[in-house]
Amino acid sequence: MPRQLIAGNWKMNGLSVPGTRLAGALREAVATAPPPCDLLVCPPFTLVGRLAHVLLGSGVAVGGQDCHAEAAGAHTGDVSAPMLRDAGATAVILGHSERRAGHGETDGQVRAKAAAALAAGLAPIICVGETLAEREAGRQEAVVAAQLAGSLPDGFAVAGAVAYEPVWAIGTGKTPTEAEIAAMHAMIRRTLAARFGAAGAGVRILYGGSVKPSNAKAILALPEVGGALVGGASLVAEDFLAIAAAARA
Ligand code: PGA
Repeated sequence: MPRQLIAGNWKMNGLSVPGTRLAGALREAVATAPPPCDLLVCPPFTLVGRLAHVLLGSGVAVGGQDCHAEAAGAHTGDVSAPMLRDAGATAVILGHSERRAGHGETDGQVRAKAAAALAAGLAPIICVGETLAEREAGRQEAVVAAQLAGSLPDGFAVAGAVAYEPVWAIGTGKTPTEAEIAAMHAMIRRTLAARFGAAGAGVRILYGGSVKPSNAKAILALPEVGGALVGGASLVAEDFLAIAAAARA
């Protein structure tokens, strides 16, 4: 299995001075004590280029939080995958539940964006996850299987990662039980293997939703957990680094 990936999703947080300071703190810390995992930070578009510069050669990669499905054109306000790549990003989060809910993104749109990311040389990190109502109805596996079927483009397994993020665990401080996480990750692994064969075995399946230093070790030790997508805790250098230090060596 590849090393675990700890990815920070800064969401719509980060101005230039504190954002650069946070990236600089990560750079210094990993130079002194390299973590047992791959590290990625996904700041807002406005900071992608600056962070790519600050983190160049540090081993900490930079990613975007969304991209358009087209490479260029009349799409006011959008940013394309080649633009992210050009700014120094190597990955992009796609289909986050906040975009699915707040921007009405469909599985088909996420799939097209992921294909564009792959074509531009970016690793797509595709988010899936059920709402609380769907879990209470016992529909979590069906919901996530449908999202995977609809959102993952052909060729995804070459470079992509999946992030299982139950919507009800994001930013709430609530997390599924370890057994619930393990069950969902096992289901996602089976789905990837059925669709992509042997290549599906190498796809990292991240867990996301209220990951923090106090629960990271237990979550990252679970079978089929290939890392974490971290929101709130990625905005505090020492918390993000503590989560990274908890990765499976
Ligand atoms: P959280 O966010 O860690 O703040 O729950 C995770 C995410 O939305 O990716």
